[in-house]
Amino acid sequence: MKRNLYLRFTLHASRYTISSVITTVTLNPALDLTLAVDDFVPDDSNRVIAARKDPGGKGFNVSRMVKRLGYPTTAVGFLGGASGQEIIRHLKAEHIYVWHVDIAHETRVNVTISKRGKGLQTRFNQSGPLIRTEEWQALCALLCQLADNALYLVLSGSLPQGLPDDTYACIIRMLRKINPALRVVVDADGPVLAAAARERPFLIKPNVHELNRYMGTRLEANAADRDFMPVLRRLQKKGPEAILLSLGKRGCLLLYQGCLYRGTGPAAVRVRSTVGAGDSLLAGFLTGLARRKSVEYSLELALACATAAVVGQGTQLGRWPNVQKYLNKSKVQKLKLG
Ligand SMILES: Nc1ncnc2c1ncn2[C@@H]1O[C@H](COP(=O)(O)OP(=O)(O)OP(=O)(O)O)[C@@H](O)[C@H]1O
Ligand SMILES: [Mg+2]
Repeated sequence: MKRNLYLRFTLHASRYTISSVITTVTLNPALDLTLAVDDFVPDDSNRVIAARKDPGGKGFNVSRMVKRLGYPTTAVGFLGGASGQEIIRHLKAEHIYVWHVDIAHETRVNVTISKRGKGLQTRFNQSGPLIRTEEWQALCALLCQLADNALYLVLSGSLPQGLPDDTYACIIRMLRKINPALRVVVDADGPVLAAAARERPFLIKPNVHELNRYMGTRLEANAADRDFMPVLRRLQKKGPEAILLSLGKRGCLLLYQGCLYRGTGPAAVRVRSTVGAGDSLLAGFLTGLARRKSVEYSLELALACATAAVVGQGTQLGRWPNVQKYLNKSKVQKLKLG
């Protein structure tokens, strides 16, 4: 294949390991900069006590959590400028294979001011760089190369400027021709999710707000499981093979291969930050499936990963010892489809 100037493989790997069973795609990543302050006074000078940088972006989060479970993973994304390089450095340090399309504009930096004590967080999110046509084409070429070896391909998060709502749908259509066995997983919202769901992905992972927006419903996360059942079945008829509905502290529901499962996380955990909880849930579930574990075990692992994420501060994801601790305390039950 013609060498493409935009493609850079940023971690040593043999030509036989260009993608992993679990490969994630992050089209609108960000470098997360968290500044800890004692006090935050607008229109004044504030002293920063500690600063920390983390790679941000939903697909990258999924890969980071998969890797923490000891499973290899490849992360793909658009990255540019110094902030893009910094993200690559962080991901490489976590032993994640990274392929990126080098874009002309700098990757955005999202800033969080975290006030100590009360745990108040003020976020400033940039909208992200504009993607040029040739950069999109380079991404398509890269995904076509990677699709051969991957089994699970996760398309996660919002789209950058310049890409239309049916971007994930286009990727699914394109890759299905190359690898019909590829299981595409979509975590998106609004019209992006709607267009992708019509392409019959393997799995979608909405939260309750995303479900309501897509289905025109007004369900609360604490509604009875039987109230979700008809909505999930209607949603499944629109295309996705399986649905993992996350319900915040109420755990999750999974509609998979004709069965409905209820997942409940450990009771009474001290929640510090729910950032990355949904990504961790997905990472645990896919790692379980990739390891050919049962659906029940995979869902328990998902809940343990999500719980380990919510007990951590800020954008930090869960650590393996915590995942192990919560694994025994998560419950999964097969429900009767009414
Ligand atoms: N307050 C909480 N207490 C306990 N567990 C939680 C809480 N919030 C989230 N979780 C866990 O995290 C999982 C995913 O949460 P949630 O439904 O909030 O995902 P999400 O809205 O997609 O998150 P994200 O911000 O990552 O997109 C839940 O299924 C649950 O296991
Ligand atoms: Mg989410």
